[in-house]
Amino acid sequence: MSIQKEAKKITTHVLQEMKRKGEKISMLTAYDYSLAQIIDDAGVDVILVGDSAANVMHGYETTLPITLDQIIDHASSVIRAVNRALVVVDLPFGFYQGNSKVALESAIRIMKESEAHAVKLEGGKQIKDSTERILSAGIPVMGHLGLTPQSIYKFGTYVVRAKEQEEAKQLLEDAKLLEAIGCFSVVLEKIPAKLATKATRSLNIPTIGIGAGGGVDGQVLVLHDMLGINKEFSPRFLRRYANMYEDIKGAVSAYIDDVKSQDFPNEKEQY
Ligand code: KIV
Repeated sequence: MSIQKEAKKITTHVLQEMKRKGEKISMLTAYDYSLAQIIDDAGVDVILVGDSAANVMHGYETTLPITLDQIIDHASSVIRAVNRALVVVDLPFGFYQGNSKVALESAIRIMKESEAHAVKLEGGKQIKDSTERILSAGIPVMGHLGLTPQSIYKFGTYVVRAKEQEEAKQLLEDAKLLEAIGCFSVVLEKIPAKLATKATRSLNIPTIGIGAGGGVDGQVLVLHDMLGINKEFSPRFLRRYANMYEDIKGAVSAYIDDVKSQDFPNEKEQY
């Protein structure tokens, strides 16, 4: 058995234990086999097959167009690569809101066809029935509050959410509700750091922040953003760990030059 196979697998219980011990949780998105293999090997705790695949893999402006079939396809590629991380999959827009039976059917399809470990849903009290019904089937659910990109046409903009008292109060209530009905964790996206810290302290389940400051239990970024594959997207919360747009472009330009100049292949690179 390889060392990777022996590595302790991350479960929802491990994440709760990490919160209890004050150990921060690392989470990144992945949508394909090759990159999922690299980030799992690097030791990331949670891999999110996010509906941000709509943007970075399919080129849509919002996350709304991605379908259940597409997300299942991404998730099964990721699952085939992963030995250790917990794999959470976004329920796409239109496959859980408003009808808990549809929500359960969507979550079951994700779990059965991709063999992922958990699902993520955006929203609080307005999707309580759907969340409860999925949980009742034994499927772990991660919540997502604050800037919920599937509601972008309601918000009208991607600015920071819950700056006003009323929305902040609602967010805290929603976070408590998600914990009470049995969600194992909640993502807090683009909200004031003070509010995220308050929510984190009031919950026993781990909070994972994106643009929510350092007072949360873990951090998540979109892999393509932190690797610098997308060069246009640079919100304040994003730290870039590589400049892969330029690196890949440079490598491809060098390859093109070598082909054109007949430097590639050389004698050692042929049979
Ligand atoms: O789809 C996604 O990538 C997400 C993260 C930004 C949390 O939901």
